[in-house]
Amino acid sequence: MSKKVHIKTYGCQMNVYDSKRMADVLKPHGYELSDDAENADLVILNTCHIREKAAEKVYSEIGRLRATKDEKAADGKNMFIAVAGCVAQAEGPEMMRRAPAIDMVLGPQTYHRLPDMLKAAEEQRTGGRRSARVLDTDFPVDTKFDHLPDDSTFDGPAAFLTVQEGCDKFCTFCVVPYTRGAEYSRPVADIVAEAKRLVAKGVVEITLLGQNVNAYHGDDGQGGTASLGELIAELDKIEGLGRIRYTTSHPRDMDDELIFAHRDVASCMPYLHLPVQSGSDRILDAMNRKHTREDYFAIIDRLRAANPDLALSSDFIVGFPGETDEDFEATLDLVRRVKYAQAYSFKYSPRPGTPAAILEEQVPEDVKSERLARLQDLLNEQQLAFNEASVGKEMDILLEREGKYPGQLLGRSPYLQAVHVDVSSADNALDAGADKPYSEYMGRLVRVKIVESGPNSLKGELVSTLS
Ligand code: 5AD
Ligand code: SF4
Repeated sequence: MSKKVHIKTYGCQMNVYDSKRMADVLKPHGYELSDDAENADLVILNTCHIREKAAEKVYSEIGRLRATKDEKAADGKNMFIAVAGCVAQAEGPEMMRRAPAIDMVLGPQTYHRLPDMLKAAEEQRTGGRRSARVLDTDFPVDTKFDHLPDDSTFDGPAAFLTVQEGCDKFCTFCVVPYTRGAEYSRPVADIVAEAKRLVAKGVVEITLLGQNVNAYHGDDGQGGTASLGELIAELDKIEGLGRIRYTTSHPRDMDDELIFAHRDVASCMPYLHLPVQSGSDRILDAMNRKHTREDYFAIIDRLRAANPDLALSSDFIVGFPGETDEDFEATLDLVRRVKYAQAYSFKYSPRPGTPAAILEEQVPEDVKSERLARLQDLLNEQQLAFNEASVGKEMDILLEREGKYPGQLLGRSPYLQAVHVDVSSADNALDAGADKPYSEYMGRLVRVKIVESGPNSLKGELVSTLS
């Protein structure tokens, strides 16, 4: 009999990829994915530990799930609660103590062992216990990638593919080196094989993922290692793969091969997420970022010289310990100089176990809030300006899902902007008999003219029909 698993994903795209892979691992064991936690036999919370709020959300969700689990138990039904991801890795034993409703805790490097953990949990529960107590947060010597099934279900034309994991950079605010472990790059051949399987299923766009994706140096199968630029060139050869993206990059690892991929490789999208975190050298040094603001400007200049069409994105932290008004002004100045298409910005939140958490001179909360608001005003202004500049342009849009209104599909521009496209009036959209006449456009790259812009999305009209 088939069982149901509900997976709730928090945090970054790496977690989105991991959640999908967990579903792939469980499928041969009779577990089907379900949107509904109430009726699931197994609920997995794939957690994020990057900021305090992200971790706290997990505990409130466990509280809600405990009630469901108790109700089901009263009806004689079983439900397992598993916590995966970075909170699990960082706080596993503590979580088990704090939340007795949890049956299983597994880290980002051990989810290929989920079936074994489930078996152990089932055995413990048949002993009449309310919850099992299975904990597996090792960093195994053999990589999970060698144990993940090849088969993966298709869930849209844009897919994630993890090529690199972990981080050796140790920025002083960040938990990633502790929760995801040391840097590891998958071999080129494995990545190419996975990409080909995705494309065979209908995937048109692949985003290569890694906490430090441009530090990629995977086995090239010829006794050497390939850089991310070389990997992208290799993937570009796959017929049917129209778009390649990658995230997240570190300025230190932005080498020429990768920069030139933005000039020379047609499928390499003109969009780059390159976090700078701060515009002040003093703060960058205290963050152990290993680059200065001038280094960052120099990289941006090289990138824009290689491809003037490149759109940029970044992450920022405001209120890092010791950040003065002057440091913050330097961040605003950097933003004004670079001009971003979009960006993420956060208030510094101390993470236990990281060096910055114990620094004196923590910035008061109200100062952080005020700085964040000012920075976000500026970034929003830039994003709006970038979107407005798209109006009148023609671009290729990958149509990924249904839009809000009938006849409308939602896609992404090369610059990752969300674009609503009305396909209902297109000549060949009206194929009689189809319940959704425009469905044949789904998952396709189409030429679109942008006619309207807003802060978070664009509107476009088809300029070509499907060939
Ligand atoms: N506080 C605030 N933001 C953080 N980030 C990482 N750690 C912290 C922290 N302790 C942000 C960084 C990173 C993004 C993924 O999250 O900007 O690039
Ligand atoms: Fe964290 Fe810095 Fe590594 Fe990025 S480079 S994952 S911010 S330690």
